[in-house]
Amino acid sequence: MTETMTDPASPEALRADLVEQLTAKGWIIDKAVAAAFARVPRHLFMPEGTALAAAYADDSVPTRRGPDGKTTSSVSAPWLQAYMIQAAQVRPGSRVLEIGSGGYNAALLAEVVGPAGTVVSVDIDAHVVAHARTALTQAGYPQVQVICADGEHGYADGGPYDAVIVTVETSDVPPDWTGQLASGGVLVIPLRMRGHTRCLTLRADGDHLVATAALQCGFVPMQGHGRDPGRRIPLRGDDAVLMLDDPTTRVDEDALRAALDRPSVQRWSPVTAAIDDGHAFETVHLWLASQPRPYGILKVDREKTAGLLDPQDRFFCPTLLTEDSFAYLTLRKQDAETWQFGAHGFGPAADALVADLIDLLTVWNAQHRAGPGPRITVHPAGTRLPDSSGMRLLVPRRHTLTAITWAGSER
Ligand SMILES: C[S@@+](CC[C@H](N)C(=O)[O-])C[C@H]1O[C@@H](n2cnc3c(N)ncnc32)[C@H](O)[C@@H]1O
Repeated sequence: MTETMTDPASPEALRADLVEQLTAKGWIIDKAVAAAFARVPRHLFMPEGTALAAAYADDSVPTRRGPDGKTTSSVSAPWLQAYMIQAAQVRPGSRVLEIGSGGYNAALLAEVVGPAGTVVSVDIDAHVVAHARTALTQAGYPQVQVICADGEHGYADGGPYDAVIVTVETSDVPPDWTGQLASGGVLVIPLRMRGHTRCLTLRADGDHLVATAALQCGFVPMQGHGRDPGRRIPLRGDDAVLMLDDPTTRVDEDALRAALDRPSVQRWSPVTAAIDDGHAFETVHLWLASQPRPYGILKVDREKTAGLLDPQDRFFCPTLLTEDSFAYLTLRKQDAETWQFGAHGFGPAADALVADLIDLLTVWNAQHRAGPGPRITVHPAGTRLPDSSGMRLLVPRRHTLTAITWAGSER
């Protein structure tokens, strides 16, 4: 009997491993998506010199950096690509528009839509477009159209689309994305709301969109017309930065910096979460961000600010504010398996902000931690929404008004 052996380090074997991992973790549930991951040679879309093992790891790989050294393009993480393709319900024959190219995700899409479908991918960076075109041809997907343009405007010539998949972080939903969707189509989009990005699966319902799913994720930020980096307030140079997403939030930057030089207030709540309870952290962040009051996120270098600031989440730490004070969510290990939530405040209003944060944690724990999370809807800018029952935050942007509603909440 002859046995065919596959070299365990070959691209085919590494792809099979990746499919197995993604399936075991529940990211791949659709057979056609598994087949696409098993076929598309991800290594051909990588920057030159990328090791095969890195090309087939379940991780994003940066491919371009801006003058400030920040990543402006990457090949996204496979788990997130699988999630988005499935959320968009891409099928054989689907017409799909991808905003933000790289080539690999477009190749996966081309596999799933098959010869009867269409994939158009738009990127603002000519270098990314050239690389994606070359790699797609080399990998056997010359039919994918890669367009160099600002994706804010979609690509009307290829529409209407059954799915628009946005692979760059945006703070708004431009009208062309919804306008180019076919009736019943799906928009999958990493939408930043008050500094927190959730991959939303949006479907039209009359004049607005309703999110049928939301997942925490991260993408490089949008460039071009839709560029909206938010406001950055360095509290200790770049070692501690407060990010404000809402342009109407008024703060006294000097007072906030000075607050760090005064004694702080720290309190612990009775609320806890298991260390691996991702759902708890995902919902508690959005719950705190959804409060109709000034809000920011704190980003810190934990080593350089040790002894002063100690947020467990060093990139997206929820922070309540007044003009001259702030209090952020903090965590400490109660035992090997459990985090305890608390609040750490600075400035003249620190006591009140800390008490408020602890109170909000208690309400979340009692009313929302077991639930599915808030209802998220996206309306045309200027829409006047009827009063809601429950706690609701409205996020106004240039094109849209996003409503985040927590049903049944008394706050
Ligand atoms: C995370 S990468 C896309 C990953 C890719 N879909 C893949 O196959 O893994 C995001 C891309 O969005 C692009 N981008 C940023 N702003 C854009 C805009 N306004 N229009 C189109 N593309 C944009 C960047 O140049 C970058 O290549």
